[in-house]
Amino acid sequence: MEKPSNNKAQPVIFIIFGGAGDLTKRKIIPALYNLYLDNWLPEKFAIVGTSRSKLTDDAYRGSLLKAINEFSRKGKAKKEEWSVFSSNITYQVADVNNTSDFDAFGAIINKLRQEWEKEPIIIYYCAVAPQFFCTIAENIDKSKLDNHPATTRIIIEKPFGRDLESAKALNSRLLNIFEEKQIYRIDHYLGKEVVQNIMAFRFANAIMEPLWNRIHIEHVQISVTEQLGIGSRGNYFDKAGILRDMIQNHLLQLLCTIGMEAPISFDADELRDRKVDVLKAVRKILPGQIDTISTRGQYGAGWIEGKQVRGYRQEKDVDPDSNTETYAALKFYVDNWRWQGVPFYLRTGKRLFKTASIITIQFREVPHNIFLSEAAGAPKQNRLVISIQPDMAIRFQLQSKSPGLKMSLNTMDMVFDYLGTSTSDSPEAYETLLLDTITGDQTLFMRADQVELAWEIIMPVLNFWENNKTANYPNYAADSWGPENAEALIAKDGFHWFNLPQ
Ligand code: BG6
Repeated sequence: MEKPSNNKAQPVIFIIFGGAGDLTKRKIIPALYNLYLDNWLPEKFAIVGTSRSKLTDDAYRGSLLKAINEFSRKGKAKKEEWSVFSSNITYQVADVNNTSDFDAFGAIINKLRQEWEKEPIIIYYCAVAPQFFCTIAENIDKSKLDNHPATTRIIIEKPFGRDLESAKALNSRLLNIFEEKQIYRIDHYLGKEVVQNIMAFRFANAIMEPLWNRIHIEHVQISVTEQLGIGSRGNYFDKAGILRDMIQNHLLQLLCTIGMEAPISFDADELRDRKVDVLKAVRKILPGQIDTISTRGQYGAGWIEGKQVRGYRQEKDVDPDSNTETYAALKFYVDNWRWQGVPFYLRTGKRLFKTASIITIQFREVPHNIFLSEAAGAPKQNRLVISIQPDMAIRFQLQSKSPGLKMSLNTMDMVFDYLGTSTSDSPEAYETLLLDTITGDQTLFMRADQVELAWEIIMPVLNFWENNKTANYPNYAADSWGPENAEALIAKDGFHWFNLPQ
């Protein structure tokens, strides 16, 4: 995107509900600060943090500075830069349940409008627990705060609903107040650099399209593994589980990015229509099939990097008899011409051996092997390995001849490695997503129908898992690759999970 000339750009006001919370400190403020440092913010901007805690502007700014120093990918803030940036931050105490508390935001907006002599873009950011999303929207409406479709936007964090029914209800209440083009539903995976690059890789290279189908691709693996446990999020996680937390959103969106047809333009709705097509084509899971297409797990205690870690049931705010899954693996089919018969295996879990988000596309075997001598070794199948994090790379694994007098085959990587860039050098997903919200680009945000279709896909598994408890939890140790039954899920099709990183 072209950088706007920021002194001419429309001013912007962020009103952050949950302004003193974890997400604001870890992600939102460091992202806004980095956008500021890189000159992406308009010259005139204001950030208003709000929550129920009583804080002075100075105390609030102090807590944000601490957060930037700890969490920003660019490291500690420099004094002069921080001082200019933070002069645009204020704090407003408010209870989101209390409609009259919202009058203060109207007053702030009007004051800035007069001061700036320009119409600002207003972004209401719901960085709060999901039960408050609607309350905030409804109080914005009742208090007659700015809500012009062209200049007012609302950002909704995940989780968007806890099942299909609640997601539909949430959509319908939000759409009573805002137009779809004003609603920015976050799935931060879509803002990740390599995930965005899948678009360029697929649709800006003529050689990819002819290979990208059932004729050449044998199967696809999407793995998002995390070494961390659930930390202090027991309250949320124990009621959610990893199917809701990761598969319904991030992993299904990765599947859509790999599975989508070529869009006719880079228009936000055109791209989202093509992703919706994939979700519609995902084969419905029938109640009797749950155990053949899915498997779940929960971590026990173990050792991670020399430190003893607790099992899931011993974590803070977790039910000691909890049946919540911290690991899930599922197999999907996409029933269309491109993907008929190609399995997509998705797996994700907490407290696993490594943190890595990797998509692997395994191509079919060569149709006829001419390298029959034992010394040559049979050619291995080609793989395209898309490494989203922590390493950022796209690698083609090809077969080649090892140098020497004999014909012997070797696997060689053709690598696009972002010139040594690691995730800390490139914009964080939140930077991309916040900038897109300012410029009004919804490409990387979830539309109402996308969210609902994703829920529809996982509902049979969700219902089955909730109604059929498992007796064998915990069934994997911290620092392992997950439960054994996950190996069985893929092994029965004749495949195995690839080691990460590959
Ligand atoms: C969040 C989930 O959406 O994504 C977390 O709620 C998870 O449980 C996180 O840890 C993973 O994101 P990332 O960017 O660290 O891979």
